[in-house]
Amino acid sequence: MLTNEPIKILVTNQKGGVGKSTISANLAAYLAIQDDLRVSLIDFDRQASSSRWTKKAPDIGIRVAQAEIDYQSAGLALLSARASLRKFSSGSQICICDLTWTPAMSEDFMMDFDMVLIPSSSAKFEMASTEIFILEYVQKKMARLAANKQNLIVIPSRVDPGYASHGTFTNLDFLANCFIAPPIYRIPDMDSYVYQDFFCVCSDKAIADNFSAFGKYISQKIVERKETLKTLSISGPSINREIAKKVSVLDDYRNRAKNLGFYGGAAMAELKQDSNADKTQDDLTAKSAQGQYIPGFLRKNQD
Ligand SMILES: Nc1ncnc2c1ncn2[C@@H]1O[C@H](COP(=O)(O)OP(=O)(O)OP(=O)(O)O)[C@@H](O)[C@H]1O
Ligand SMILES: [Mg+2]
Repeated sequence: MLTNEPIKILVTNQKGGVGKSTISANLAAYLAIQDDLRVSLIDFDRQASSSRWTKKAPDIGIRVAQAEIDYQSAGLALLSARASLRKFSSGSQICICDLTWTPAMSEDFMMDFDMVLIPSSSAKFEMASTEIFILEYVQKKMARLAANKQNLIVIPSRVDPGYASHGTFTNLDFLANCFIAPPIYRIPDMDSYVYQDFFCVCSDKAIADNFSAFGKYISQKIVERKETLKTLSISGPSINREIAKKVSVLDDYRNRAKNLGFYGGAAMAELKQDSNADKTQDDLTAKSAQGQYIPGFLRKNQD
């Protein structure tokens, strides 16, 4: 991973009103205040709830952007979303995106994130729809998810105090990369906070403690993600090294095959010109009776 790449967090669900914007704005604030991180917030939703909240509340240095996605076609939607993500996340350490998921968006966009947070109430219908949303995504992207170890985190949202996560979202239990975050409780006088204040620093200790427990959990997941990224072979310069290694083995194989007279691939023409360029003298003298090159690994059997 390139060291200046931000950790990208998508807050999404195809369900409306589950708390995506509330969580996006307040998580951005938590990470900026408590963890002293440079945070950018991209609001992909027309209502602009999370960006408005972050702009109206006291300025704590969060970079806020409202971005439009062009849904004219699937290709344009992906392209415009990716362009905004690149543009507005650059220079920050954490980028949080607030987006209502629609089938018009390619799952490839979801794959661009280090973690996907999925707020959901604990009502049975909503829990089931959240489980289906996650399972469909995992089914489509299984191979790549296994490779990039993206975290999927369900957030029980607007739940009654005393709610226990245990025994909920059980259809996701088998997914190694899927977690249930500490719940965010229903706030009775919610509208006195909207646009005014951030939960983690508000004067109501119960609300501040509840949100901070969630924030701390995500903060820990960010630390773990940074560690994981160091070991992933599919990102940054390491993938280039891996590919380079494979390509050079392939070139070597093609050279040998071509010299044995059984390689007819497209690269044949270029290989013809410099096939002997990197052979040792020993290799070059090892010709068969027909004048063909016999590579070292076959020579033993021919002697
Ligand atoms: N923890 C909470 N306690 C009480 N009310 C909440 C809580 N979280 C969100 N709300 C309220 O629920 C409504 C929906 O929340 P929010 O706008 O954050 O959800 P959303 O998923 O972004 O919705 P949309 O799909 O419309 O973008 C809002 O009126 C918000 O004030
Ligand atoms: Mg919203």
